[in-house]
Amino acid sequence: MSGPPGATGPTGDWETLYATSDVATLPWYNPALDTDIERALKAHRLRSGRILDLGTGPATQAMNLAKRGFDVLATDISSSAIAKAKAAAKAAGLSIEFRVDNVLKSTLEANLVDAIMDRGVFHVLPKDKRPIYVRTVHRVLRPGGWLFLKCFSIKEPGTWGPFRLAESELLGYFRGTFDILSVVETVFQGNVAPAPKALFATFRRREASPEPSSQKRDRKRSTRS
Ligand SMILES: C[S@@+](CC[C@H](N)C(=O)[O-])C[C@H]1O[C@@H](n2cnc3c(N)ncnc32)[C@H](O)[C@@H]1O
Repeated sequence: MSGPPGATGPTGDWETLYATSDVATLPWYNPALDTDIERALKAHRLRSGRILDLGTGPATQAMNLAKRGFDVLATDISSSAIAKAKAAAKAAGLSIEFRVDNVLKSTLEANLVDAIMDRGVFHVLPKDKRPIYVRTVHRVLRPGGWLFLKCFSIKEPGTWGPFRLAESELLGYFRGTFDILSVVETVFQGNVAPAPKALFATFRRREASPEPSSQKRDRKRSTRS
């Protein structure tokens, strides 16, 4: 696989990467708050609340959100990423809760946060794992909670780094349990030039999950008896 330094591909060994790298050299490193998330927070007048930075990596996004007054929880599959992120937040005098957590085997509690931002996790997951991700973010979000997701677009040429997604494919995963507010074509800001083509989607967790038909049947039976 060719690509920029640190591009590990969808099945990359995240722990080795973070244990052996200066995070500021990683392709996705962006010291500023992602401009799409910035715009989305403004558009939806979100100024406070509990927000999860899922797959926080260098935690630049988590730190920017904490500076803006959000109560931030930041998770990553890599314990080295979390150790380095904790040190960076401490040095910046920011209070952020960090946890090692694999979104595919998550131990995060239900209804934990008002919003989730995912800048680059969904697009590293293979197709068969994506439904697990969708169930997890749905469970961790409070009803009506926001999910902001940035991923590589199918329009980005080449095969280095993460999977590419078409808008229709991305939306297909979320249609059942989330309202789709918007999807825009954008770029993934970081150390790669030109910045890779990306999609930025805004979803909202529906208030109530559709009830499985078997449960509906059981309830009807019990009310008759
Ligand atoms: C492309 S990087 C983006 C990092 C960060 N969000 C940013 O914008 O700088 C993807 C991140 O997802 C993390 N990750 C990969 N698979 C994960 C999983 N199953 N659960 C949680 N985090 C994961 C990686 O360790 C890495 O930090």
